[in-house]
Amino acid sequence: EHALINLHSILISLFSNAIKTAYPTLEDIGQPAVSAGSKFADYQCNASMQICKLLKAKGENVSPNVVAKKLVECLGQCNIIEKVDVSGQGFINVWLSRNKLRDILQYVLENNLKPKPLTNPQKIVIDFSSPNVAKEMHVGHLRSTIIGDSLCRVFEFIGHDVLRINHIGDWGTQFGMLIALLQDKFPNYKTESPPINDLQQFYKQSKVLFDSDLEFKKRAYECVVKLQSMSPDHVQAWKLICDVSRKEFQKIYERLNISIIERGESFYQSRMENLVKDLENKGFLENDNGRKIMWSPESSIPLTVVKSDGGFTYDTSDFATLKQRIEEEKADRIIYVVDSGQSVHFDILKKCAIHSGLLDPSKVRMDFVGFGVVLGEDKKKFKTRSGDTVRLVSLLDEGIKRARDKLVEKGRDKVLTDKELQLAETAVAYGCIKYADLCHNRSHDYVFSFDKMLDDKGNTAVYLLYTLTRIRSIINNLGTHTQDLNEPISLDHDKEWKLAKTLLRFSEVLSKITEDFCLHHLCEYLYDVATIFNEFYDNCYCIEKNPQTGEIVKVFTGRILLCKVTAQYMNTGLNLLGINTVSRM
Ligand code: ARG
Repeated sequence: EHALINLHSILISLFSNAIKTAYPTLEDIGQPAVSAGSKFADYQCNASMQICKLLKAKGENVSPNVVAKKLVECLGQCNIIEKVDVSGQGFINVWLSRNKLRDILQYVLENNLKPKPLTNPQKIVIDFSSPNVAKEMHVGHLRSTIIGDSLCRVFEFIGHDVLRINHIGDWGTQFGMLIALLQDKFPNYKTESPPINDLQQFYKQSKVLFDSDLEFKKRAYECVVKLQSMSPDHVQAWKLICDVSRKEFQKIYERLNISIIERGESFYQSRMENLVKDLENKGFLENDNGRKIMWSPESSIPLTVVKSDGGFTYDTSDFATLKQRIEEEKADRIIYVVDSGQSVHFDILKKCAIHSGLLDPSKVRMDFVGFGVVLGEDKKKFKTRSGDTVRLVSLLDEGIKRARDKLVEKGRDKVLTDKELQLAETAVAYGCIKYADLCHNRSHDYVFSFDKMLDDKGNTAVYLLYTLTRIRSIINNLGTHTQDLNEPISLDHDKEWKLAKTLLRFSEVLSKITEDFCLHHLCEYLYDVATIFNEFYDNCYCIEKNPQTGEIVKVFTGRILLCKVTAQYMNTGLNLLGINTVSRM
C-alpha cells in the first residue's frame, strides 16, 4: 500500500479500460471525465454523454443511461470502490471504500506522508528568481522566487532530481558604465574593496554620466569590450560589483528560506561564441542590416543572435543556456518561471531551438511558467507612495512588523514566550506573503494587501497556520491521556468521512501541479482541508472534559488519530508552499 495513492487517476484508468472493453470500436476518446465531491457521490464519471454522441455519429442510437450501465458492467474490480450506481441521466456515481481509505490514512500515520522513490526520476532544471545585478530586485522577481521555489519543492517531494538555477543578469552592456564609474570613484578598487552600499544609486549615477558625458560613454564602451575579452582588471571590477548585489539577494533568500544556485548570464559567454559559430556554419543565421538573426518557420518574429556591433543579446544568452541545459545537464524537463511579459521571447526561443535540431520536444519538455503583475491596493502597478519601486527588504520588514502587531492585537504576546512569538511572527509574515502570491491563479495579476493577507478568516496563510496549531494543541493537550493509539482511525461520522476523502485528494492535486504549474490548486486543497477539519471538530468530540474541573475524562482515540493525520497533510502541504509552520502562535 502506498501513502501517495492517487484515487482520481485510478478511477480514470478504470473507466478508460471499461470504455475500451465496452466499445472496442470507438476511437480513443481521451481521458474520461471523473470529478470529485458532488452531493450525490464521492466521485462521478460522466463519460456516457460523450460516448453517446460518438455512437450517434456512427448511426447507433442509445441513451446515456444504457451506456453508463454497460460501462459499469465492464468496470474492473478495485478495492478502493465500495459501490457504483447509475443515475437516470447516465452519470456514474462511485462510492469509495471506507476500509480502504482508512488503511491508507493508517499507513500515512505510521510511515509519514512520503512518496515511494521513483524508478525513473527526471532531471528537471528550474530557472527562477533571476534578478539583475545592480538593478532593483523587484516584486516581479519576488513572484518568480516564490512560485519557482514552491515548484522545486513539489518536484523534489515527488522524487525528481531538481536543479534550482538563478539565471542572474550579470552580463551585458550596463557593466561598461558600472566599471567606468567604479574606476573613477574608487581608483584603489584592485586592493581595497569599494564601499558601495547602495548599488542602485551607483547604477543611476553611472547612467546619468553615460547619457550626458560623451567621454564617459566612450570609456564605458571600451570597458564592455575589455570585460568580454576577459581583461583581468575589468573582470575583477565586474566581480566586485556582482558581489555587492549578491549579498543583497542573499539576504532575501535567507529570510525566505530559498535555496538556489547562482549561474548567471556570464557563465555562458564562451558558449555563446561557440553557439553563434555553430548556427552560422549550419546556415541558420541571416544578415539583416548588419544584425544576425534567426527565423523559425513557425514564428513571425526572429531571434537577434548577434547585434550589428557584434555584441550578443538576451536571445543569444538564452539560446546558449538552453543548449547547456540539454547537452551538459542532460535535462529531461526545463522550466522557466518568468513574468508573462517574456512569454513571446521564450516562445520564439523554443521554436528556433526545435528548428535548429537542438530541442526535441518528444525527449525534452520545455515549459514557460509565466505570471501576472503585482498591483497595489489602487489596482495600479505596485509602487511606494513616492512612486518608487518597493524595495523587497523593506517589504519583508513591514510584513514582520504587521505580523507582530496582529499577534499583539490578539493578545498572543501575553501567552507566548519571546522565542515563540518571534517564530510565530516570521512564520506569519513570510507565510502570508508567499501564500497571497501562490493562492491566486499565477497568470492573473494580484493585489498586494497586508490587511487581506493577515486576515485570520478566509483563504489565508494565517487561517491555515491557526488551524494547524489548533490541531497540534488538541494533540499536545492530551498529556498523559495519550493512551496506546492502537484503535483504528474513526471514519463513521459524516464529517470524519468528508475529511478523510478530502485529505486523500493530496496526490491528485500534486500531479495536477506537475502538469499546469498552478500552485493555487494546493492552496485550495489546504483551505478545504482546514475548513472541513474545523467542521469536523465542531461536530465531533475528540475529548470529553469534566465540566467542573476541566479535567479530561475520555479520549476518542480514533478521532485524535484523524487529527494527527490531518496535521501531517497540512504540514506537508504548507512546506511545499515554502511556508514554515509553528507549534504555537
Ligand atoms: N533577469 C531576467 C529579468 O529580470 C529574468 C531571467 C529569466 N531567465 C532566463 N533564462 N531568461 O527579466
